[in-house]
Amino acid sequence: MRIAVTGATGVLGQEAVEALVAAGHEVTGITRRDSGVPIVEGRGGAAIVADVFDPSDLARAFRGHDTVINTLAHVPVGMAGLRPLAWREDDRLHLEASVAIAKAAADAGVRKLIQESSVFLYPDNGTDWITEDLSLSVRNQAFRPRVREMRAAVDFATAGRSAVVLRLGQLFGRDPQSTHALKATREGDPILLGKPENYITLLHHSDAGRAFVAALRAGSGFYNVGGEPITRGRWAKDLAMEAGVETPAKFYPEITQAIVGTRLEVQRRSLRVSSVRFMSETGWRPTVGPSTKGWSRR
Ligand SMILES: NC(=O)c1ccc[n+]([C@@H]2O[C@H](COP(=O)([O-])OP(=O)(O)OC[C@H]3O[C@@H](n4cnc5c(N)ncnc54)[C@H](OP(=O)(O)O)[C@@H]3O)[C@@H](O)[C@H]2O)c1
Repeated sequence: MRIAVTGATGVLGQEAVEALVAAGHEVTGITRRDSGVPIVEGRGGAAIVADVFDPSDLARAFRGHDTVINTLAHVPVGMAGLRPLAWREDDRLHLEASVAIAKAAADAGVRKLIQESSVFLYPDNGTDWITEDLSLSVRNQAFRPRVREMRAAVDFATAGRSAVVLRLGQLFGRDPQSTHALKATREGDPILLGKPENYITLLHHSDAGRAFVAALRAGSGFYNVGGEPITRGRWAKDLAMEAGVETPAKFYPEITQAIVGTRLEVQRRSLRVSSVRFMSETGWRPTVGPSTKGWSRR
């Protein structure tokens, strides 16, 4: 299959390109910069330099492809998410670029769109399981870009086309967010939000890459993608183990947690997310868990 990947030089995009190439697909990775070309080629894909906000660039990039996979994001690391304008680029990518991508893909005759999304859109559900049928908690304006992006994917899935929206768990692996969390754990600084008894659903990057391949087999719809949920207290111990220290990662004090605002509040939620629908429909399984030794180096 001929597959175009947007955000191909990013944490998710690189994993997707590599996994798709390994599965025998012909992959074009899209980047806005010349320096992105060797990154895509290093993962086995061909690169096209294009602006994801420009419809004519997108039309050129998508021509002749069967599937488009959109992995674009610009997530601020750690408490940088509290800074004014920290989410501006991420919002623009979901509000404008994702919509332009869905439209350009349809116009270019692409038959399938796979759109990255997130489990953080679910409400806190305590110890109860979360399936795709639970209503999202997206009334705040801050979530408008993610809602608009989903609508664009749904609009794409007309006239015999299909759209698969993957609600990915919290990513961990060899990436800026995890590196930051491991450093804080080593230095004894607080890094975790929420309460130790709350649930977290994690997804290793390599499993996320394989999920994009598996999604080629899924019918139109929304799918949760994550490993076995664990408590945040367990995650604190797993972070310490990976960081090579005895003391579990620390939680921010309640007084700090009270002022984190809407964007980071999602990380306080208890999210015990079931990926059974995705696993049974595609056969995908997570292979790297938070207690797998060396997860931050693979
Ligand atoms: N579910 C989750 O937990 C989740 C989801 C996403 C990210 N994250 C985490 O957040 C951290 C950052 O990852 P990320 O995915 O946000 O960033 P990233 O991996 O650095 O970037 C993704 C790609 O998007 C493209 N891009 C970014 N900003 C753009 C812009 N303004 N215009 C056009 N293209 C743009 C870039 O491609 P070019 O520069 O090549 O054009 C970039 O390579 C990582 O630690 C990751 O694990 C977590």
